[in-house]
Amino acid sequence: MIEIYDLRRIYRMGNVEVRALDGVTLTIEKGEFLGITGASGSGKTTLLHLLGLLDLPTSGRVIVDGLDILGLTEYEKTMFRLYKLGYVFQDYALVPDLTVMENVSLPAMLRRDRTEAQVKKDSYGILQRIGLCDRKDHLPRELSGGQQQRVSIARAMVNRPDILFADEPCANLDSENSRMVLDLFHEINEEMKQTIIMVSHEDWHKDYFHRIVRLKDGKIVSDGKNEPRRA
Ligand SMILES: Nc1ncnc2c1ncn2[C@@H]1O[C@H](COP(=O)(O)OP(=O)(O)OP(=O)(O)O)[C@@H](O)[C@H]1O
Ligand SMILES: [Mg+2]
Repeated sequence: MIEIYDLRRIYRMGNVEVRALDGVTLTIEKGEFLGITGASGSGKTTLLHLLGLLDLPTSGRVIVDGLDILGLTEYEKTMFRLYKLGYVFQDYALVPDLTVMENVSLPAMLRRDRTEAQVKKDSYGILQRIGLCDRKDHLPRELSGGQQQRVSIARAMVNRPDILFADEPCANLDSENSRMVLDLFHEINEEMKQTIIMVSHEDWHKDYFHRIVRLKDGKIVSDGKNEPRRA
């Protein structure tokens, strides 16, 4: 469970103050597939970065399974990210000079709690899962956008994180590839009970979410249960 209390992120530039996140209080249940929506500039990415420990708030608290994650040391935060969190970005963020297999293995190698053989096996398994085994020795640029995004999901999943963050993961994909990516998130969520927090602009993505939180000017303006209606 993620408990967020009065979270704020204020950017100060000279005399101008931008309240990117302006007092967000929210509880996210374990296993929830949560959609975050709102207009451009409403604070969606800011919220995701704060929850993912990729940025620091101006004030507020974030408690994950009873742990105050903003109170952790830098080292503890790094470990928390590595063991508990997974990230999928709009631009895939794959390492261009590494093969598909190497990209997927990377977070598992960083953890150093599995042998290299085990990491290979796990990575291969997850590539199989996303249907890209035959591309394992290719470089990211040799894949389509949709394939690259599936690789980035595989990379996020290899450590079986408790929480998966995705910031507009379908922004650069056509509707067929978007659906493939969303179906993959749905299956992961069903099978592994992962909490997934996904930022989205697209109205039809709500077919997948259990709950939708809408932001406006850094504040929550609506928060409601949603009945997923996948085609
Ligand atoms: N590094 C920064 N410095 C100053 N202001 C920032 C910075 N990052 C974000 N902001 C401001 O904070 C507000 C929220 O930005 P954020 O990126 O969270 O919006 P968003 O909802 O993700 O928008 P989009 O849909 O366009 O991605 C915006 O007004 C933005 O200009
Ligand atoms: Mg954004």
